[in-house]
Amino acid sequence: YDDSETETRPPVVTIMGHVDHGKTSLLDAVRKTDVVRGEAGGITQHIGAYQVRSPLGGLITFIDTPGHAAFSSMRARGAKVTDIVVLVVAADDGVKPQTIEAISHAKAAEVPLIVAINKIDKPGADPQRVRTELLQHDIQVESMGGETLEFEVSALKGTGLKELLEGIQLQAELLDLRADPEASAEGTVIEAKLDRGRGPVATVLIQRGTLYNGEIVVAGAEWGRVRALISDDGESQRDAPPSTPVEILGFNGTPEAGDRLAVVESEARAREIVDYRARVKRERLAARAAG
Ligand code: GTP
Ligand code: NA
Ligand code: MG
Repeated sequence: YDDSETETRPPVVTIMGHVDHGKTSLLDAVRKTDVVRGEAGGITQHIGAYQVRSPLGGLITFIDTPGHAAFSSMRARGAKVTDIVVLVVAADDGVKPQTIEAISHAKAAEVPLIVAINKIDKPGADPQRVRTELLQHDIQVESMGGETLEFEVSALKGTGLKELLEGIQLQAELLDLRADPEASAEGTVIEAKLDRGRGPVATVLIQRGTLYNGEIVVAGAEWGRVRALISDDGESQRDAPPSTPVEILGFNGTPEAGDRLAVVESEARAREIVDYRARVKRERLAARAAG
């Protein structure tokens, strides 16, 4: 790794899989295992990304399934947001088209995959069939002699979640994920919207450095001075360190998912960058129109 990336950072995990295989249920169940968070502020999710503490003590950042299309468009734009993909496969349904799609996304992004065989509580559950089907798509799980971590879980009953979270943390330790919290912040916009009361609201994953309230940021064609940083449990923060998902208020316009965020030293510099990007975009459009 890069020597300047000094501190271990939490892994960023995306959950993927076929429709109705239990992605959202699994995320909800995982959130409920975070007892501390549960006691402090309930389990209400304020933004499309959040952190939980694994049973081994480390933090894990989950990004709520951005959908495969959003995932690949971010990747196409060079935004690498995920460190680990958790592939959810329903034990009563097996490998399906979107399972296969998720496998190819993870492969193309060169991101390690962890298999969660879900719905093992169901009478028709056949986890062994899932393993065999995965093998046909070059995913060899540990119990089949391979290296891909696998966990039998039930999002409904809460079975196997502790093991899954431990597995994610272990996989993260192998990846030796690091970032320099002293650097000026860099990140990626996960989602953004125009809120009637609050103006443009961008959910950003901070990937490097620490973002501080009051700093001037540029993301894609928009800039602003950070007026508030709001964490996944709805609390205002003074700063956001690496791997933290955070809502940013203060943008003058609404950036787009996949836009890269950077801190700049002045409003003048922010305007310069945004004006330059707007000009490049206009020229590109004009050139395209001219054939
Ligand atoms: P999409 O976002 O629509 O692709 O679906 P999803 O993958 O998020 O699945 P979701 O969590 O919505 O679950 C689909 C259905 O499966 C719901 O009716 C869940 O209650 C059910 N379900 C999810 N996990 C389990 C499980 O472990 N056991 C059982 N029995 N049912 C489950
Ligand atoms: Na569903
Ligand atoms: Mg869902």
